[in-house]
Amino acid sequence: MVSRRKKIGVAHVIYNSRNPNGLILAALRVKPPYQRQRYGRLLLQQVIDEFSVPEWHELRLIVQPFGDKPLDEAQLIRFYQRFGFVRLPTRGQYPLMRRLLFSE
Ligand SMILES: CC(C)(COP(=O)(O)OP(=O)(O)OC[C@H]1O[C@@H](n2cnc3c(N)ncnc32)[C@H](O)[C@@H]1OP(=O)(O)O)[C@@H](O)C(=O)NCCC(=O)NCCS
Repeated sequence: MVSRRKKIGVAHVIYNSRNPNGLILAALRVKPPYQRQRYGRLLLQQVIDEFSVPEWHELRLIVQPFGDKPLDEAQLIRFYQRFGFVRLPTRGQYPLMRRLLFSE
């Protein structure tokens, strides 16, 4: 995401090699000086809108705070739940969440 030519945040979306119609949000980050100004929400909504097309059925992510970690795991789960993500069972160390992208 770029605002007035400044890079303020990133969202990395990659293919899910286990699901031909699935995507993975591999990293969502807003630079510290710009946090808590709704850019995170904006960026996540932009990703959802951009990939809500017939080709893509679901977006998954692993809840794993990184960098300066302004939000802990529980806060991130609530953040993603507000965008329609639900938790999936996992044997992994970190929570796994999924959001359906396109339904006819
Ligand atoms: C997660 C992240 C992208 C959110 O970006 P952001 O621009 O700060 O988020 P927003 O301003 O859009 O805030 C969205 C909501 O998150 C919550 N939130 C954000 N910062 C918070 C903080 N410091 N403390 C508590 N809640 C917070 C709030 O519920 C907020 O909504 P509200 O302002 O209406 O109360 C940002 O915290 C970040 O870059 N974190 C470090 C990297 C990371 O851990 N990414 C997640 C990997 S799974």
